[in-house]
Amino acid sequence: MENREELKRQREYIEKLKHIVADIGTESGRAPKCAVVTFGCQMNARDSEKLCGILRQTGFDLECDESDADVIIYNTCTVRDNANQRVYGHLGSLRARIKAGEKIKIALCGCMMQEQSVIENISKNYRFVNLVFGTHNIYRFAELMYRMYTEDHQIIDIWESTDDYVEDLPVERKYGYKSGVNIMYGCNNFCTYCIVPYVRGRERSRDAREIIREIERLTADGVIEVMLLGQNVNSYGRGLDDGMDFSDLLKEVEKIDGIRRIRFMTSHPKDLSDKLIDTMAGSQKICRHIHLPLQSGSDRILKAMNRHYTKESYLDLVKRIKSAIPDIAVTTDIIVGFPGEKASDVDDTIDVINQLEYDNAFTFIYSKRTGTPAASMEDQVSEEFAKEQFGRVLDSVRANASKRNGLLVGRTEEALVESISDNDPAMVTGRLSNNSMVHFKGDPGLIGSIVPVRLHTAGGFYYIGDMVRE
Ligand code: SAH
Ligand code: SF4
Ligand code: F3S
Repeated sequence: MENREELKRQREYIEKLKHIVADIGTESGRAPKCAVVTFGCQMNARDSEKLCGILRQTGFDLECDESDADVIIYNTCTVRDNANQRVYGHLGSLRARIKAGEKIKIALCGCMMQEQSVIENISKNYRFVNLVFGTHNIYRFAELMYRMYTEDHQIIDIWESTDDYVEDLPVERKYGYKSGVNIMYGCNNFCTYCIVPYVRGRERSRDAREIIREIERLTADGVIEVMLLGQNVNSYGRGLDDGMDFSDLLKEVEKIDGIRRIRFMTSHPKDLSDKLIDTMAGSQKICRHIHLPLQSGSDRILKAMNRHYTKESYLDLVKRIKSAIPDIAVTTDIIVGFPGEKASDVDDTIDVINQLEYDNAFTFIYSKRTGTPAASMEDQVSEEFAKEQFGRVLDSVRANASKRNGLLVGRTEEALVESISDNDPAMVTGRLSNNSMVHFKGDPGLIGSIVPVRLHTAGGFYYIGDMVRE
């Protein structure tokens, strides 16, 4: 639950840290520069915004990158081994800079730090790292930073779990007009390949009133689009005593005046209810996009993955969603190379891709995560086989996505303008409800507003259009 006592404590540490930062500024003639590098998913990115909020408030200069920062913070991910390896790669470069005499302070946090083997490695082989903390005590960041500056040894503070969260601390949002909002933490699903339940702990839903209050505050600050975040948003409300489920929560968010668009991430197929489909179909604000991880189309592999649905039930679910909400874009995640997978299993996955014509799919080669049940399964597949099958899946994903792209040509759709276009400063880039991007002529003053755009051409994964003046 929300811990007000702890909030007060952390606010005191923010004040103490401010003095330290001010002293450094007086001594060196400028505020210390701090770079926060995000390695993981949207939740990880949201955590980085919380770190930046505290850093900004305590006087750090965040306008820098890793190469000219005085303090570097890696917010790590460990969902696949390559995320892990990237962090070690960065640490290798930092070691060289420190050997060359640079005075930098280094902090590590995020999911990878919840792994015992990682902590052992860092405490033994990366003595130059100043501070290490995990996913459960991130709300103590101000206190931990204070300790980093006042204690002269490597600080490692990792918690196994927590029942508390502290949400009212400063947050620095990357975008003024949209924001992620945590509606739950952790995961109870234990898909056999996945490390998230081990590093993020048990599933806990936030009280709906707290969520609504946070979103109201965001709207007062200019936010018009929210992304509700959880590892399995469809099980929102379990364990709460107000009887609210995810669909009820969406209806409450819909009532907030300033909110124009609602997105959410991620849905687990096993818990997606008809009530949710009805709520989405009847909503003016919930975006026409759903990310619904399939992982595999083979019943045998789905069972071994502990996903609790079958190829048929998944196909049926998506068909129901598409018939209730005809324009909806459906995207997915797929894993190739799970232990025991054969070419015929991948055929089933490809069959689902062909039947459903996903708008996009993120395909991953299975990565063995120590401590998960799949890591000790026999018949791990060879890298060569996994790569070959990965290629087949990717080809089918691309062929189907290109069928979907361009379907809206000729229509006028609302776009939320997000940035100046990368390729042409006279153009802006907006996002449609279905998550497609559109480029059109417009000036930077439009950023953060929703405007009607006539879509006249389709490119690879985007549209070109013209703003319609009313
Ligand atoms: N909670 C979300 C997503 C979690 S991680 C969900 O259930 O969908 C995001 C994606 O990473 C997963 O959907 C899965 O496709 C992929 N993933 C997770 N563990 C993996 C592993 N060990 N190897 C390869 N991909 C993995
Ligand atoms: Fe991992 Fe499965 Fe939980 Fe998603 S639902 S975070 S894939 S265990
Ligand atoms: Fe996200 Fe990676 Fe953690 S995907 S929850 S940052 S392991």
